[in-house]
Amino acid sequence: MRLLIVGGGGREHALAWKLRQSPEVGEIFCAPGNAGTAGLGENVAIPPNDNAGLRRFAQENRIDLTVVGPDDPLAAGLVDDFKAENLRVFGPTKSAARLESSKVFAKQIMRCSGVPTAMAGVFDDTKKACRFVEKLRYPIVIKADGLAAGKGVIIAPDAESARAAIYEMIEHRRFGEAGARVLIEEFLEGWECSLHAFVDGDRYQLLGTACDHKRLRDQDEGPNTGGMGAYSPAAAWTCDLEKQFDEKIMRSLLRGLNDEKLHFTGLLFPGLMIKDGVARVLEFNCRFGDPETQVILPRLKGDLLAIMQQTIDGQVGAMKIETDPRPAVTVVMASAGYPEKFETGKKISGLADCAKMENVHIFHAGTRRNNGDVLTNGGRVLSVTALGDSLGEARALAYEAVSKIDFEGCYYRRDIALAALPANVAGKDVPSRS
Ligand code: AMP
Ligand code: GLY
Repeated sequence: MRLLIVGGGGREHALAWKLRQSPEVGEIFCAPGNAGTAGLGENVAIPPNDNAGLRRFAQENRIDLTVVGPDDPLAAGLVDDFKAENLRVFGPTKSAARLESSKVFAKQIMRCSGVPTAMAGVFDDTKKACRFVEKLRYPIVIKADGLAAGKGVIIAPDAESARAAIYEMIEHRRFGEAGARVLIEEFLEGWECSLHAFVDGDRYQLLGTACDHKRLRDQDEGPNTGGMGAYSPAAAWTCDLEKQFDEKIMRSLLRGLNDEKLHFTGLLFPGLMIKDGVARVLEFNCRFGDPETQVILPRLKGDLLAIMQQTIDGQVGAMKIETDPRPAVTVVMASAGYPEKFETGKKISGLADCAKMENVHIFHAGTRRNNGDVLTNGGRVLSVTALGDSLGEARALAYEAVSKIDFEGCYYRRDIALAALPANVAGKDVPSRS
C-alpha cells in the first residue's frame, strides 16, 4: 500500500515510524514531512492546508490511504474533499471535526448529551460578555471559539484581565474570526489527562492514556506551548476513571453526535480534568496529540495500519488493541524563544549516537536535511522518547538521550514525568550534559 501522511511534526514522524512497521505498507509520502520522515519515505513539498494540491498528489501517485495529522486540514474539509473523489482517508469530516474546531459546538453537544464539563456562557458581544464576568468567582477561563494555534485559551485571574481578554478576542480579533465568539468558562482544578480512542461512529476503542506538559518552563510556569513533553500511561488513571470515561463521556458523546446525524470516524482525543476521582471534559481534539503520539505509539503492539483500516470500515467493535505495559516518556527539545520568536538553521549533533540506544526513539519535529546534516527548522525540534520497565527508568533513559543531543539555543524542560514518580525516586535530577 502507498500511504500519504499529512503534516510535518513529531506526531507525523511517529505515525510514519509506526506505519512503516506494517507488512502491508510500501511507499510512504509525507507532506511536508521533516528530516525524520525523510528517512522512512519521501517528503513532498505540499503544505497541509493545500487541499487541492494534496488531492491531486494522492490521485496522481495512486495513494491507497491518506492519514491526516494536524487539526487545520480536518477543519478545512480535507477528508470531505478526499472522500468526494473516492480517495481513502483516515480522519473525521469537516462537520464531525467541529468538535475541535468550534469550542461552542463541542460545549453544546456536551450539554445536550450530559457529558460532564465546565459550565460556560457563549458571547459575541463585548459589552454583554463584560457584564457577565463582573459576577463570577475568579479565576475564569476565556476561550476563542475557533482554532487559534493552541493560543486561544486565556486564564483570567481577575475581572480586569477577563475584560482585557474579551476585548482582545471579540473587538480586536486577536485570533481573527476564531475569536469572534468566545466561551467564558468555569475554571476547573485537578490533573489533566489525554485520552486517545479510535472511533467509527457508534463504537470506540481506547488506544491509551497520556499526560502532556503544556507550559514552557519547569513546575508548569511560563506560557502555554503545543506540549513540552509527555508520558504514558497516565500514572493516576484508574479502573473507576475508565468506567466514567466509558459511561459518562464516550457513550453519551457518541449518542449525542448520532442524534445530530454526525458520524465521527478517526482518532478522538478528549482532554480531561480530573479532581477527587471525577473526570470532566476540557476539550475534544479530533486527531492524534503532539507529543502524546510520541509516547502512545511506541507502546502500541500490533499493526497501526490494520487498526486504521478497521476504523474506516466501521469495525472498531471487532478490533483488538494491545499495548506494551512498559511506560514511555518523551522530552521535547525546542529552539530558544519558542513558542514566540526563534531562530532556525542550527546544526543538530548527537543524533547518530542516540540512534544506537536501545528503547530510545528520536522523533523529529522542526528539522530538515542539508548536505548530510540535520538542521533545526521549527520551534519544537525533536521529541526524544524512551521506554523503561518503570516510569523512572523511561524518564532517566529519555534524559540520557537528550544529554547526547545539542544545537545552538536548545531548550527543554527538566521535569517531564517527575511529579508522577514514586517519592523515593523523584528526587533524582536529570543527567547533566556530557
Ligand atoms: P483547551 O484548548 O480547551 O484544552 O485549553 C488549553 C489548556 O487550557 C488546557 O489544557 C488546560 O490546561 C487549560 N484549560 C482549558 N479549559 C480550562 C478550564 N475550564 N479550567 C482550567 N483549565 C482549563
Ligand atoms: N498536546 C496537545 C495537543 O496535541 O493538542
